[in-house]
Amino acid sequence: MADRDREKWDRKYRENPILREERSPCRWLEEYVPEGDGKSVALDVACGTGRNTLWLARHGWYVDAVDISPVALDILKERAKEAHLDERIACRLVDLDRFEAPRSDYDLIVETNYLDRPLIADLQTRVRPGGYFIVDTYLDHPDNERETFQSDFLLQAAELPLLFADWEILAYEEYPNEDETHRMMKAGIVARKLPTLFEEE
Ligand SMILES: C[S@@+](CC[C@H](N)C(=O)[O-])C[C@H]1O[C@@H](n2cnc3c(N)ncnc32)[C@H](O)[C@@H]1O
Repeated sequence: MADRDREKWDRKYRENPILREERSPCRWLEEYVPEGDGKSVALDVACGTGRNTLWLARHGWYVDAVDISPVALDILKERAKEAHLDERIACRLVDLDRFEAPRSDYDLIVETNYLDRPLIADLQTRVRPGGYFIVDTYLDHPDNERETFQSDFLLQAAELPLLFADWEILAYEEYPNEDETHRMMKAGIVARKLPTLFEEE
């Protein structure tokens, strides 16, 4: 499976110039994520060519950027180097189907345009109390222009808040995308992990 996924995504990145263009980060980063304080660490899940990673690094964050496509990661490394941000970004070639996050105390995890429900459940344990989790990806919706998506890879309406039922939800919206190749409905959530309650002695 991993080899097939890697080949498929490498081919997409090689053959589709639009996928290699520099793109704005996911809207929630600009709206909700504070400046990094020099120690803040984020995980960008299925980072692609790094639109979110690069934004975070520019805003003072250290980022673990993980993806299965060496072609996408090479583009990200090149951009990071050009922008003198390479010291802030650790690119890792991983198969998310068999991924163990390198830390358990991320200040932020961001997963955009990629959906793996069991992975979200696992990664929720990798955010420190008070840290953030942002998910923003495609919804199963009759108005979607692209119908070839497997429904496993699409969110259902109102599903994300249920996945984050134990978290403080700072924002949730279902909305039509902009600036992407196909008109699609998306859903995005910004959630904050509630602080752990310690029992008084
Ligand atoms: C639609 S792109 C999203 C890229 C980026 N998150 C964004 O929002 O621009 C999906 C990404 O998932 C990566 N991917 C797909 N299957 C994967 C897997 N099993 N493990 C790691 N990455 C994977 C692809 O290489 C691709 O870069």
